[in-house]
Amino acid sequence: MDFCNLRLPLLILAALGCCSASCPLLNTETKGVIGKNVTFKTTITSTQDFLTVTWNFNKNSVIAPIITSVLVSNTNNIDKKYTSRIIYNKTTCELQLGPLVKEDEGEYNLNIVTNKGESLSGQIDLEVLEPITDVKISSNLPEPVEFNSTVVLSCSAKGSFTYKWLNDSVLLVVDGTHIKLNAAGNELTIAEVRRTDLRGPIICIAENALESGKSPPFNLTVSYGPEKVIMTQTPTDSFLKKGSNLTLACSAQSDPPAQLQWMFNGGEAMPQKTTANITLTSIEEKHSGNYSCVPYNAKTNRYVSSQVAVVSVMGTWPKFQTQNFTNFCLG
Ligand SMILES: *[C@@H]1O[C@H](CO)[C@@H](O)[C@H](O)[C@H]1NC(C)=O
Ligand SMILES: *[C@@H]1O[C@H](CO)[C@@H](O)[C@H](O)[C@H]1NC(C)=O
Ligand SMILES: *[C@@H]1O[C@H](CO)[C@@H](O)[C@H](O)[C@H]1NC(C)=O
Ligand SMILES: *[C@@H]1O[C@H](CO)[C@@H](O)[C@H](O)[C@H]1NC(C)=O
Ligand SMILES: *[C@@H]1O[C@H](CO)[C@@H](O)[C@H](O)[C@H]1NC(C)=O
Ligand SMILES: *[C@@H]1O[C@H](CO)[C@@H](O)[C@H](O)[C@H]1NC(C)=O
Ligand SMILES: *[C@@H]1O[C@H](CO)[C@@H](O)[C@H](O)[C@H]1NC(C)=O
Repeated sequence: MDFCNLRLPLLILAALGCCSASCPLLNTETKGVIGKNVTFKTTITSTQDFLTVTWNFNKNSVIAPIITSVLVSNTNNIDKKYTSRIIYNKTTCELQLGPLVKEDEGEYNLNIVTNKGESLSGQIDLEVLEPITDVKISSNLPEPVEFNSTVVLSCSAKGSFTYKWLNDSVLLVVDGTHIKLNAAGNELTIAEVRRTDLRGPIICIAENALESGKSPPFNLTVSYGPEKVIMTQTPTDSFLKKGSNLTLACSAQSDPPAQLQWMFNGGEAMPQKTTANITLTSIEEKHSGNYSCVPYNAKTNRYVSSQVAVVSVMGTWPKFQTQNFTNFCLG
């Protein structure tokens, strides 16, 4: 069956937006990528009524022949510029072209002359896209601080594409306040960044109708804290005997880990006391007072004080007076 000679289907095709009533091409435009092949699809299923089939390239009204197929003699004349770049399908008249270069962009014409002297012709516009390469994410800040910093992630790539963002492999959700995306889609702004915002990994995808490119996974540490400061005292008693040992331990949630400073009676920093645990051995009355720890995060520039341990050291007494312990305390 020669599809092209049937009037009714062609009229339907015309109504569907085909280029003309006798158009043998499936589409009026198509896209290809540099370095890849493109195939110009036809609606032809048989060439038995054809005399000649010609494909031309029309660039700025300069018409260059690609291939002329003469069916009676079963010969294909291929222009030497195209000999290694096309594959022609004798059944469908489809033309595969590639690997594509930017200069292939333009209009391609298919002209067919039938043995009834009719001619069929169609045009298809080829757009040649740049391949997508070098997709990557960069941040405006190398060391963001939780709640203080506004982080702007920029995605860049080479080629022809639009952008898409993934957070831990799901489509990133933009709320328009905390997380915003610019109109071009390549800039993600995270205001008052939170510690979990940039753990991602965050991936930028640059894509077009034909291909896509992914950035390497991106993540960034957001400094936070100190917070949840806990101090413990061992033994837990507020009143301690002279000569006993007192251990204080301090912990805080912080990234990077907090530096610790131990404070005695509010204002005085205890010299050399910067470890998470401190032990005062063989304590005396002068050790009575208020102990607290102050974790400090140099990246966030924040410090928080723990609760205060109030410690009273009681003087020694001869062993036989141990029974007076209670009285002593109350006195
Ligand atoms: C692209 O076309 C060339 C020549 O026309 C052919 O050698 C190559 O295998 C094709 N590549 C693909 C991926 O079809
Ligand atoms: C021509 O196209 C038809 C339909 O797509 C396909 O079945 C056939 O294998 C193709 N012939 C060649 C030589 O590529
Ligand atoms: C990524 O996902 C995590 C977990 O759901 C979320 O806490 C974080 O805010 C997200 N980050 C961005 C930039 O959307
Ligand atoms: C980023 O992710 C990798 C792999 O999960 C992890 O090893 C690395 O510590 C992360 N870096 C940051 C800055 O979070
Ligand atoms: C206090 O600590 C020192 C040194 O660790 C130890 O020798 C001593 O026995 C401890 N004293 C008490 C009362 O536990
Ligand atoms: C220790 O703390 C208590 C209450 O928490 C306070 O009344 C007292 O004055 C403090 N002592 C010193 C020496 O700072
Ligand atoms: C973060 O903000 C707090 C409160 O505004 C401020 O005290 C601190 O210095 C800031 N940290 C940095 C690193 O700018």
